Amino acid sequence: MTLPTIRTVGVIGTGVIGSSWTALFLARGLKVIVTDPAPGADGKLRDYLLNHWPTIPNAKVTQDEYLNNFRFVKAIDTYLGDLDLIQENGPERLDFKRRLFAHLDANTPEHVLIASSSSGLPSSEFVTECEKNPARILVGHPFNPPHLVPLVEVVPHQGTGDAYVTAAIEFYRSLGKDPVLVKKETPGFIANRLQAAVCAEAYSLVSRGVVSAEDLDKTVTSGLGLRWALTGPIMTNTLGGGGNFNHVMDHLGPALKTWLYDMRRHEFDVDSQDVDVLKQKVNEWTSRVNLKEIEESRDKLLVGLIKSKTEGSI
Ligand SMILES: NC(=O)c1ccc[n+]([C@@H]2O[C@H](COP(=O)([O-])OP(=O)(O)OC[C@H]3O[C@@H](n4cnc5c(N)ncnc54)[C@H](O)[C@@H]3O)[C@@H](O)[C@H]2O)c1
Repeated sequence: MTLPTIRTVGVIGTGVIGSSWTALFLARGLKVIVTDPAPGADGKLRDYLLNHWPTIPNAKVTQDEYLNNFRFVKAIDTYLGDLDLIQENGPERLDFKRRLFAHLDANTPEHVLIASSSSGLPSSEFVTECEKNPARILVGHPFNPPHLVPLVEVVPHQGTGDAYVTAAIEFYRSLGKDPVLVKKETPGFIANRLQAAVCAEAYSLVSRGVVSAEDLDKTVTSGLGLRWALTGPIMTNTLGGGGNFNHVMDHLGPALKTWLYDMRRHEFDVDSQDVDVLKQKVNEWTSRVNLKEIEESRDKLLVGLIKSKTEGSI
């Protein structure tokens, strides 16, 4: 089965993620039909597009085309027949997505790929009432903001057709993104699970007073994270073992076992008083810094980092 070239995308929901996807789709020259029932959503989207234009890397169109090649509609139903792909970005609620996907599936031509930005709800749980063609539904989970961060986790459910999985990967790649295929549905997919594991240990170390919140962050930004933006944990360890991952496992395996044992003994409990201790320690630090400045500086440097990665060879 050959799926049609994707020229027109439907965007459902223009909150944090939907606005950013819209900016990316438009900057890559696609036509976008977009909807969101929130009062003032149309104006907010226009402001977002205008404000973020300068930060979008490798735009393929002029600013004028970018700002005019979309139509904000009150109801998308009339336009479902014009779409080649839908990217859904509504609230992360099972009842909402289940109802919405049943409606989209019933009213969109059978071949149209429908992707959800869901952060953790697997599509197998919200295609249950889709009768027409649930095989064209999958999760395309971006990282915020999708117009900058290249990762998209493509997560099919057991009934998703291979042709749709391939089409989704090719589509995201054509936008300049770096899609990763999650072969088995798993809660939180991959990136959020990794993030949860690191954060749980970070929270434990800070709440136990092993390290300050500020210095904990520094161990990531000046150490682990710097390398991980270029080589992930597997390649980093392979290089650390002189190019031999087996050596790392044989050499550091026993130490890993001891550390993991200790970490389990001090596992962070989100239902305990440790949460209050953690909050107090984090707030003590963050109340002393200018968060807006940090965020702006982060976004500016992120654009530069992604640019140098694109120009480099890793
Ligand atoms: N925020 C993140 O960092 C992030 C990252 C990756 C994925 N996601 C996922 O993306 C999805 C959207 O998250 P968000 O952070 O943008 O949420 P958000 O609350 O910012 O936006 C959700 C939008 O959906 C709109 N909406 C509600 N009902 C609707 C309907 N019937 N039709 C169309 N739009 C409707 C709301 O008005 C709102 O603007 C969620 O599934 C979330 O898990 C979020």
